[in-house]
Amino acid sequence: MSSEPIIKMENVCIRYGRGPEILSNVNLSLEKGSFHYLTGKSGAGKTSLLSMMYLAQKPSRGNVNVFGKNVNFANRNALAMFRRRIGVVFQDFRLLEHCSAFDNVALPLRVCGMNEKEIKKRVNELLKWVEIDRSTSAITSTLSGGEKQRVAIARAVINRPDVLLADEPTGNVDNDIAPKLMKLFIELNKLGTTVVIATHNENLIKEFQYPTIHLKNHGLTIINPEDGDKYAEI
Ligand SMILES: Nc1ncnc2c1ncn2[C@@H]1O[C@H](COP(=O)(O)OP(=O)(O)O)[C@@H](O)[C@H]1O
Ligand SMILES: [Mg+2]
Repeated sequence: MSSEPIIKMENVCIRYGRGPEILSNVNLSLEKGSFHYLTGKSGAGKTSLLSMMYLAQKPSRGNVNVFGKNVNFANRNALAMFRRRIGVVFQDFRLLEHCSAFDNVALPLRVCGMNEKEIKKRVNELLKWVEIDRSTSAITSTLSGGEKQRVAIARAVINRPDVLLADEPTGNVDNDIAPKLMKLFIELNKLGTTVVIATHNENLIKEFQYPTIHLKNHGLTIINPEDGDKYAEI
């Protein structure tokens, strides 16, 4: 059975201003329901690639198709509609700092018009899972980096997006909770969400084996766990 890839890039280049190409002629096809890590040294272009998948940036050359539509030709309204189907954990969190943890996570559900009773139930349950049960009403600016990251993860997954993009989502949390957060991404993936996780966390990559989109020398290779030596190099 073959269906349209959920994210497809053809000969995509990314550059900033008149700077050098960060990525050159990248081709990538992500099937619905797939799970990939995204790796590469700092500066390799992981965040830039994710920002194209999230439709925050258009390629300098080439085509990016998301949900079967070429984003080069999508207007603002169409992009906003697509984005509602994508959950993102940003490297720098981008939470509403003056709001509570609860309100940050409730936001995507309120945007959809869900009733407050159901929102309360879902948000509290998820915040408990990411171990923010103590401080759900705390103003976000008072939380630690690790707590903010877990709130950002909860906000990204609360409405079971079609696509989840997470940029180093375990970079600020303690080692003991990282596998638990991965299990949350895996559960979401089992429900059909397409997942891409940029990470440097070798323990996670070894423990939970999935194909890796590896960025190197301005290009991209897909490395599978069964590719032995190559996989060990990531
Ligand atoms: N907004 C920007 N303006 C100019 N250069 C940028 C911008 N964002 C990223 N870069 C550059 O693009 C390269 C790739 O960055 P990035 O995508 O953040 O890589 P990674 O996430 O793998 O560390 C880096 O050299 C970085 O300095
Ligand atoms: Mg980055």
